[in-house]
Amino acid sequence: MNPQGLLSFVESWENAGAISKGIALGVVLGGGYFASLVLYAIYNVFLHPLRRYPGPLLWRAFRVPYVISIHRGDIHRKMKRFHDEYGSVVRIAPNELSYVDGRAWKDVYGNRPGHLPFERNRTWFKKLSPDEPHSIMGYDEEAHTRMRRTFVNSFSEKSLRDQSPVIEGYVELLINKLNAFATGQQRADNTVDLNQWLNYFTFDVSGDLSFGESFDCLRHGKAHAWVEIAQDFGKALSLIASINLYPPFHKLLRYVIPKKIMQRSFDHRAMSAAKARERLSFESERPDFVTPAQKYNKHKPSIFGSEWEINMAIIVFAGSETAGSALTAVMRELVQNRGVMSRLTEEVRGAFEDASQITIAATGNLVYMNAVINEGLRLDPPVVIGVPRLVPAGGDTVCGQWVPGGTYVAYNQFAANRQSRNFSHPNSFIPERFINPDTKTDDMTSLQPFGIGRHSCIGTKLAYAEMRLVLARLLFAFDIALADETDRWDWGEQKTYILWPQLLRVQVRVPRTSARTGGLLSHPPPARSAAIHDFESYAWRYQVKWSSSAKKTEELLG
Ligand code: HEM
Repeated sequence: MNPQGLLSFVESWENAGAISKGIALGVVLGGGYFASLVLYAIYNVFLHPLRRYPGPLLWRAFRVPYVISIHRGDIHRKMKRFHDEYGSVVRIAPNELSYVDGRAWKDVYGNRPGHLPFERNRTWFKKLSPDEPHSIMGYDEEAHTRMRRTFVNSFSEKSLRDQSPVIEGYVELLINKLNAFATGQQRADNTVDLNQWLNYFTFDVSGDLSFGESFDCLRHGKAHAWVEIAQDFGKALSLIASINLYPPFHKLLRYVIPKKIMQRSFDHRAMSAAKARERLSFESERPDFVTPAQKYNKHKPSIFGSEWEINMAIIVFAGSETAGSALTAVMRELVQNRGVMSRLTEEVRGAFEDASQITIAATGNLVYMNAVINEGLRLDPPVVIGVPRLVPAGGDTVCGQWVPGGTYVAYNQFAANRQSRNFSHPNSFIPERFINPDTKTDDMTSLQPFGIGRHSCIGTKLAYAEMRLVLARLLFAFDIALADETDRWDWGEQKTYILWPQLLRVQVRVPRTSARTGGLLSHPPPARSAAIHDFESYAWRYQVKWSSSAKKTEELLG
């Protein structure tokens, strides 16, 4: 621009009105912002150290599509589609890689000799407020080690044995309550929202074992206020985590999250802290999560002050929603796959003559039961998307490929378990794959519903014990079918916010006595011990009449 031109521009700017000046400034700033976005996207796609990893263009360029998908609750389906399209590792955000290759478990979550650990990232595991203490679920490795060492005592074989009568008592109550539906006392059509009752059960057990008192959901047939709040907590966690991805704007962006949801997560923490304090004030010992941890802490002080409260709140939540979700998913698969239901019912009714024999210890030997549970955890994993870890500064390899330091990496369970590269007929419910595994078509090492390594699930044994016991008691006591035969859908069709919403309306009926005492049984399953992850090669075939819905599965089984 020559001096004359510059002069006339300055004159016209001075003569312009405030509105025109505002518009012009807006255009300049907007243009600048747009240009920087374009440059940012160009950098991410063409120059970023992760540029060689495949993935959808927009997701590689910006984090926004990921956040939108989290808010929509369809991130698990997106991941599945991306892995179908791009392969076993996909770049799902400028700085995040998603894996469905079983080798990634060890590299990302395990302890590799000679490698630095991949820590929990500080976005998903950020504290709700700065003064909140660290927890067993937190990113601080030193605090985690102290807390895990203490609480692991509450989940040992011995502790589980001590806790068994408590858990069995709640299952008895669950069966009594459902009996009222089965006999038509509650509803003439014998229908019941089983998902609710299963969640009442898991929350009552967790409440008793953590806070020293039941939430009494089973007794009252409705969710306690704490439980209602907790059920929104998963959603709050995922929304908060997605917003935390935008520092320093996350404080402002929190206002985008519905106020009710934010408030509920704060209420949840406050109510939990009050309940935990109450439990800690008990003088006497109880068969629960607190007594063994307290005993350890007395000898080796590891957890202090308010750290107790936050950890107990986390354990209640971690142990209820997950187990409730797993139980509902397995039951849905059973009522949608009548052939599998028949086999399992036959196993249970053949193994026991009376409900009083069905205990946590006695259900550990049910081979088909273990297979059904594992297949449910595969098809409908309670922890839907991967919990991302951070590649240490300096970078490291994952599945043999170099990944720069600071990258988020995660194994995404739903997407992985539904890949045909990992499992044959990945979208079908086929428990037999665990009884007679074909390692050529099914990669069992890729299935880790409870995670692996130092952060793996502390409650695995308890979760299996609860699931086996509840399923055995339910199938022994009732004939269960879908309330509406057309209400069939794939579990993955639901929206998800870390966990699943779960829906299952069924009809429960008291079976004829002969069915309970072996009338159905043609081939009683031999009593033999099956370790949880020991997918023994053991096949037996039942001569049951397959219902039409089971035929598809039967065809797949060959
Ligand atoms: C079917 C049921 C369950 C599933 C699928 C499940 C799954 C998981 C997974 C995948 C993790 C690892 C998270 C990570 O990598 O950051 C985890 C951690 C954890 N789970 Fe579970 N869980 C279940 C039941 C339970 C139960 C019953 C409890 C306790 C009552 C529990 C307590 C915990 C705790 C405290 C952690 C954190 C462990 C640590 O960081 O050291 N979970 N769970």
